[in-house]
Amino acid sequence: MKVSIIGAGSVGASCAEYVAIKSIANHVVLLDIKKGLAEGKTLDIYQSATLLSYDTKVVGVTNDYQATENSDVVVITSGIPRKPGMSREELIGINAGIVDSVAQQILKFSPKTIFIVVSNPMDTMTFLTLKKTGLPKDRVIGMGGILDSARFKTYLSLALGVPSSEIQGMVIGGHGDTTMIPLARLATYNGIPVSTLLSVEKLNQVVSNTMVGGATLTTLLGTSAWYAPGASAAYLVDSILGDFKRLLPCSVLLDGEYGLDNLCIGVPCIIGGKGLESIIEIDLDSNEQEKLIQSAHKVQQMNQSLDSIL
Ligand code: LAC
Repeated sequence: MKVSIIGAGSVGASCAEYVAIKSIANHVVLLDIKKGLAEGKTLDIYQSATLLSYDTKVVGVTNDYQATENSDVVVITSGIPRKPGMSREELIGINAGIVDSVAQQILKFSPKTIFIVVSNPMDTMTFLTLKKTGLPKDRVIGMGGILDSARFKTYLSLALGVPSSEIQGMVIGGHGDTTMIPLARLATYNGIPVSTLLSVEKLNQVVSNTMVGGATLTTLLGTSAWYAPGASAAYLVDSILGDFKRLLPCSVLLDGEYGLDNLCIGVPCIIGGKGLESIIEIDLDSNEQEKLIQSAHKVQQMNQSLDSIL
């Protein structure tokens, strides 16, 4: 199994590292336009192989798309990350051109690949990739909800003082500070609703911490986060290559599901060997459904800025 990761920034490199360490694929190609960057990061990663006991081949290349030939999955992380005070949405102008050109070049060498889109604004970049490549919806999947859900579960575990592995929860909607929807009503601690264990104030705090989870890190780090984003992308790759059919919130094209269409936004999806295998329509309460409609409206407004290039 071969995975190519486009963009050797921190998110791309972290994703490559996790795919290798967890032996999710036997061949990883990391590609960047900056000369030497992908080669340097992958050589560094590969020198950990004997220490961490993995056999995955990790190779870095400068803009050589031929090296990505016959990839089963391609992860697009290319583009500029946000700086403190910036929203993900402000990146659209620069990142749209980059993501479009990456997707076209990839398809020349891997016409059957499944795309995972990480570049921000993620929902819009996923929509762009889908429209510009003309691929079916099962082969273009936006990673954002998995990361937001990981942050949600982390904040819930901290609030409850319990291991995060025992928390179940999901964030749907857009991957934006004001568009994501942590489904607090459905989150559980080993099946027990967290709403019965935390006060309304504490649960609201968890929800708001989750929504600004990325921005909090951007303020602390001076740039966008990478460990959890890289791990989230690797988890999605694992679900596809292992054909695990995991239930994950991913940004995918909606054709009437949840009463929405012609946009990519985070909803519960079954992810397996074919990529997006199905969308699960859960019963949202009226408040959650209203939030999803508002979130979709904001994502659609963002997508309008693609009109000139679609
Ligand atoms: C974040 C970026 C990767 O949420 O979107 O950290």
